[in-house]
Amino acid sequence: MNLKSKNFLTLLDYTSEEISYLLKLAKTLKTEKKEGTAHQHLKGKNVVLLFQKDSTRTRCAFEAGAYDLGMGVTYLGPSGSQMGKKESIKDTARVLGRMFDGIQFRGYLHEDVESLGKYSGVPVWNGLTDLYHPTQILADFLTVQEQLGKLKGVHFSFVGDARNNMGNSLMIGAAKMGIHFTAVAPKELWPDEALVKQCKAFAEKSGGSITLEADKWKGTKNADVVYTDVWVSMGESKETWRKRIGALHEYQVDDSMMNNASQDAIFMHCLPAFHGKDTEVGLEIANTFNEDYPTIQNGEMEVTDSVIESSKSVVFDEAENRMHTIKAVMLATMKNME
Ligand code: CP
Ligand code: NVA
Repeated sequence: MNLKSKNFLTLLDYTSEEISYLLKLAKTLKTEKKEGTAHQHLKGKNVVLLFQKDSTRTRCAFEAGAYDLGMGVTYLGPSGSQMGKKESIKDTARVLGRMFDGIQFRGYLHEDVESLGKYSGVPVWNGLTDLYHPTQILADFLTVQEQLGKLKGVHFSFVGDARNNMGNSLMIGAAKMGIHFTAVAPKELWPDEALVKQCKAFAEKSGGSITLEADKWKGTKNADVVYTDVWVSMGESKETWRKRIGALHEYQVDDSMMNNASQDAIFMHCLPAFHGKDTEVGLEIANTFNEDYPTIQNGEMEVTDSVIESSKSVVFDEAENRMHTIKAVMLATMKNME
């Protein structure tokens, strides 16, 4: 398997064999890290991390991962660089490609990360765009493998805004890996029809399946994995909250939904999650909408505190696995591993 110089922009560009290879490499790197075995395979190289949106996990996973691999790291945040303001993405790509050996981009337009990939001449990794969040899927799939021992044949229900970057990317990854994926959401939040069609074709080959379901009980019945994400994504306006809470408040992942899933089901979330009043946004939303929507009065939105704190929840394993899987992506695309 040689992925050297390949961009990592969406799992649409990766075969199931390539995804399996990255998961296996991540597992090796995780074991080595736990054993204290150094793996500075990219010593002397440098990467730049471009962020138009905020991040905790993705930034830290790339930074810690790059250091472990022996690399230098430069972080450019939502303010402070010329990108997009005084300089086009295409020019930025050609400048950074002369200085760095790899580029991570988190931003709004998927076309921007494609432009970086096209013009920089070095591997580009998508750390989240409005459309896709592929590095998160690798961490999630490594977690599912660890918890359930397999990916193929797993019944995976994504509950919530099924046409956001997470819904899209999980559906693509599931379709490629033989997972039975159900998007559980009101019809207006179902994924784009063309993408569903594409994923159904992948699923036919892999032995998986894609189902869209508005009934939350049918959609989560006997699921092995119940996954959710925030109801309003970064970049969406504040006004979106009212509309989205209206559409999704009945889809909150609570104990009754987990009990409807398989007895051994796990709960997953890419994080950050609103499950209490201890965040500025959670508090504000709870105070604004609690009269109309009592279920969110404690700042619990897409998931209740009781579910995320339960023994079924593997959210912090997912968070840790961001680092091991991102390391695998950097290593595989920067060095010939054959
Ligand atoms: N899950 C995830 O991408 O988290 P951050 O926004 O903190 O990077
Ligand atoms: N859908 C979320 C994912 C965050 C990791 C967002 O884009 O904000």
